[in-house]
Amino acid sequence: MILPIYLYGQPVLRKEAKEITADYPNLKELIDNMFETMYNADGVGLAAPQIGLEIRLFVIDLKPLAEDDPKYGEFKKVFINPRIIEYSGDLVKMEEGCLSIPGINEIVEREEKIRIQYVDENFTAHDEVYGDFYARCIQHEYDHIEGKLFVDKISGIRKQLIKSKLNNLIKGKVNCRYRVKALNGKH
Ligand code: NI
Repeated sequence: MILPIYLYGQPVLRKEAKEITADYPNLKELIDNMFETMYNADGVGLAAPQIGLEIRLFVIDLKPLAEDDPKYGEFKKVFINPRIIEYSGDLVKMEEGCLSIPGINEIVEREEKIRIQYVDENFTAHDEVYGDFYARCIQHEYDHIEGKLFVDKISGIRKQLIKSKLNNLIKGKVNCRYRVKALNGKH
């Protein structure tokens, strides 16, 4: 089932999400729905707060990037209760977007490498190190469950420049081809 994606301005996007246990209701169905919702919106990552749930869960599938680099074709993962425990390497700049902030893309500086501990959809524990675009994408989704958004990381001037666009998202004044849920306005 395709779920509406919560837009910038929705309070759930600003909450520090909570851990879940293996008996979380309908977890498998929820994960399936999140992948379906993400694919429908042409995204490569989606975090639970973006569909209105204050829980530490996000999904990533980098398959669309496999055209540029085949190594990304086999990266479909579910991260539950993740904790980034180490950041390393240089700061890297790259343009980012977000399904909750359609129509806005900005250069964001992030750490080159991360070490993350999490459980997968079967509640099997993992402790892994990632670099490249994996690290970029994981940090972006991880920020979501910490109540942070990529627009928090841009300069004051850039923020000023996109202010009216952000206000439009709060009002639901947005042209989006996937289902969204704005704080105000009808959708
Ligand atoms: Ni996002």
